[in-house]
Formats: sequence, structure tokens, C-alpha cells
Amino acid sequence: MSNRVVIDPQRVIAPIDPNVFGGFAEHLGRCIYGGIYEPGSPHADDDGIRTDVLAALKRLRMPVMRYPGGNYVSGYRWRDGVGPKEERPTRMELAWHDLEPNTFGTNEFVDFCRKLGSEPYLAVNAGDGDMREARDWLEYCNGTKDTTLVKLRKQHGYEAPHDVKYWGIGNEVDGPWQIGFKTPEEYARVYTEYAKVMRWTDPSIKLLASAVSLWSPSWVERVQLLMEHAAKQIDYMAIHWYVGNNRERGYRDDDFASYMAISERMEDMLSGTEGIIRAMSSALKLGHDIPIAVDEWNVWYRVHNEGKLEEIYNLEDALVVAMHFNAFIRHAKSVKMANIAQIVNVIAPILTTPEGMVLQTIFHPFELYSRTCGDSALDVHWSGDTFSTPEFTGLRVLDVSATLDTPGKRLTVYLVNRSRDEAGETTIELTQGRFTGSVKASVVNGPDIKSVNTFETPDAVGVREQTFDADGTSFTITLEPHSVTVLDCDVA
Ligand code: AHR
Repeated sequence: MSNRVVIDPQRVIAPIDPNVFGGFAEHLGRCIYGGIYEPGSPHADDDGIRTDVLAALKRLRMPVMRYPGGNYVSGYRWRDGVGPKEERPTRMELAWHDLEPNTFGTNEFVDFCRKLGSEPYLAVNAGDGDMREARDWLEYCNGTKDTTLVKLRKQHGYEAPHDVKYWGIGNEVDGPWQIGFKTPEEYARVYTEYAKVMRWTDPSIKLLASAVSLWSPSWVERVQLLMEHAAKQIDYMAIHWYVGNNRERGYRDDDFASYMAISERMEDMLSGTEGIIRAMSSALKLGHDIPIAVDEWNVWYRVHNEGKLEEIYNLEDALVVAMHFNAFIRHAKSVKMANIAQIVNVIAPILTTPEGMVLQTIFHPFELYSRTCGDSALDVHWSGDTFSTPEFTGLRVLDVSATLDTPGKRLTVYLVNRSRDEAGETTIELTQGRFTGSVKASVVNGPDIKSVNTFETPDAVGVREQTFDADGTSFTITLEPHSVTVLDCDVA
């Protein structure tokens, strides 16, 4: 097998928004309770936050964190989750059919974000909630005037405003499973009115519209109608997707090649959304950019609510997570936020028990990409071996992206070898500049594509590092089968 990756460091696609390494925490299963928040645990700090989980999440460097849902938000009353804990109500929660004690709410979440170094991103209830409630929540969080809601926040111990910048209006309103499912026209009206009063409450906020999660043929019309009716009020167009190695989420059941070809579907969803936004922005003479926020994405196909969505990830899932970041980097011009769903226990890179935790396979590509990503995405050309599936022919075995840091001295190349059995000899070539010394290669791999990390074998899939010298305009490296390789190169 041989491949050629050709990089011109001057062919910059766009700056990379660090928010593509965002996270998402929902009141669902053990994400909040027993995940990030577990008062009484030997691992908990004085606020009940699991310090072991916090330390692991810090390694992922998530600049933004979406909360409190998800489907959960469409039945959420923010007032239930503020004030003295003993007075907070326990509610029947209808999105996931659970009981919600509300002992974790807005202020606990903001404190958690501050500890983590993430910007909070709150989604408001556009399901069974209303715009008054949304606007009050914003005033409670960000208000500076001497109002009753601001006094309430201060009474709750938060003198300074939380300054929450990102606000989503609704969640997956296109899905019949949602409390308060809406037609595109209904949502466009609701969105516009919520946005109006929320901006009047705090003009500095950024608003995200919930566009697509159900990729049925009508998604195209939905985005178009949303643009037509509400574009002026939209700061980000939010889309969701989940993929998996099965017929429902992918194209085939347990077919490695088809699973790896999911990159094509991600390209379609991103390019399609970009195209509609662009066409409508031009038709409307819009005058501001509307970037995409993939504010829920991940592999999710094995477990459903009985399993509280506690997916156990294997190596092939880790390759798919890496391909997501490659796609976000290649689409850096439009994708300005992405939030892995979710952060702990629920379809997450971290799995806890009361005693400890395990870092799942998907933790490793996430950490590698967020730690090494430069600030500019490069337009990479690559060629080489190909593979086919029942749906596609001639797909390149490698899935590639690259970034550069601002002084232009560090080039990072991301390579996923999608061959199950074959190593790939790969030449990395620069068309301008040269390699000037050290290359650090970090490889995510494990014994088999089905390898998983468990409490007994926590490091079955992990990262190995190796450094070598490269001088001149090219070097050749052998990529292991079913692996993710990140090359951190000094260049001039
Ligand atoms: O992340 C799990 C669920 O997936 C979210 O609650 C919902 O928005 C999506 O369907």
C-alpha cells in the first residue's frame, strides 16, 4: 500500500474555531448525577464535582459546554434548578422517563464550567416552555440592572453575572420524539420571537437555531425555510448527527468498510448545509455569515434508554471520531462549533463507577486532536490506495486533514488508516517550505478493531508516541492498519 499526502502551507482554508472541540452535558442517565456530580463520593470536591472526572475532562480541552439538553431541555424549568437545594422540586422527566431531583442546575453548571475552563452554552426550552421563561433565564444569568431576577441570582450567591454567551433556542424541534415538535414554519416563528426578546434582554449573546437532526429528505426544505423566515436572527445553524456500524445509523450491519465510508455521509451533511446557507444568504442579501454548529455528534447505535445510553466504544469507533475531526477541520470555513454528545457515561469518552473511571477508546483521538490542532486549516491533497463498499467505489483508504499554527512553524497532519489489515506506506510532501527537524508521531491503535477499554484492560486502546527527524521537503512513514496517526512537524 502506498499513499501520497501533498501539503502547501499557504493553502489555508480558514481559521479553526477551537469551539469545534466542545462538549455537551445533559440531565440523562448518569451524565450529571453519578458522572460529573456526585456529592458524598470520595472523589468529590466541596461542590460535589467529581475531581477525577474533571481532571480527565481537562485533558480534552473543551472550550464550550452545552447544557442542560438535549431532549431534556424541552420539558425543563430552569427555576426548578436554582436556590436552596432542599427547596428544589423533584419532577417527572418526560424526555427520558426519569425522576429529576434538580439538585444540579444553572449555578452548579456554571461553576463546573469555570473549573473546567469551558464557556457555558445554555439551550432554552422551546418545547413546553415559552419565551418569557427563556428571557427570564437569560436575565437571571447575565443581567446587571437592579431587577428582581438579578437580585435573586445575587441572593443565590452569584453577585457577578455569569455572562453566558451562547444560547440555543430549542432542541431537535424537527423530531417527532421531541416535547413540542415543530414544523419548519412553526419553529421559524418561535425562533424569531424568542430571539427578539432574548437579544433585547442581552444584545451581546450569540443565538443558535435548531435546524436538523432527522436527516429525512425534508431536511433540505427545513433549512431553506428557516433561512427564509429567520436568517437575520440566526448566529449559528445547529445540526446534530449520530453514526454507527449498523443499518439504522450507517449503511450496513457490522461492516467495517461501510462504517469507515461514513465520512461520505458527513461530507454530504456538511456540504449540503453549507450550500443551502450560502444559496439563501445570497438570495436574501443577508450581510452576515451563518456558521454551522454540529452541537451534538458522536457514535451511538448500540444502547438505548434501558441502557441509559452507556455505549462501550471500540477501536473502530475511535477511528470514526477522528474522521469527524478531520471533517470539521476540512470544513473549518463553516463549522465554528461542534459538541461531542456527551461528556461522561452517556455516549461518552469517560465511563465512571462510584470507585473510579475508565477512558474509553474515543477519548484518545479527542485528546490528541484538541491538544495538537493548529489555528489554521490547510487544504490538503492526497491520493493512494482505495477501497470499496456496496455503496461506494474508489474511496481513499486514508482520511486526512492538516493544520498550521500562526507563526507557521508547526504543521500537524492527521491521518486515519481505514484499512483493516494493511499498513500504508505514506509520503508527506511539502510544496513550499521544508521540514526542519523533529516530527512527533502519536498513534491511536489497539490489537483489533473491536478492542475496548475496560476496568480490567483500561489501556487496550491508547496512544503511543515516537519522535524522528525529518529534513527537506518530504518524508515517508508507515501507517499501521486501523489506526489514527497525528504528525506534529517542525517546519520553516
Ligand atoms: O444525546 C442524546 C440525545 O440525542 C439528546 O438528548 C437529543 O438531542 C438527541 O436525540
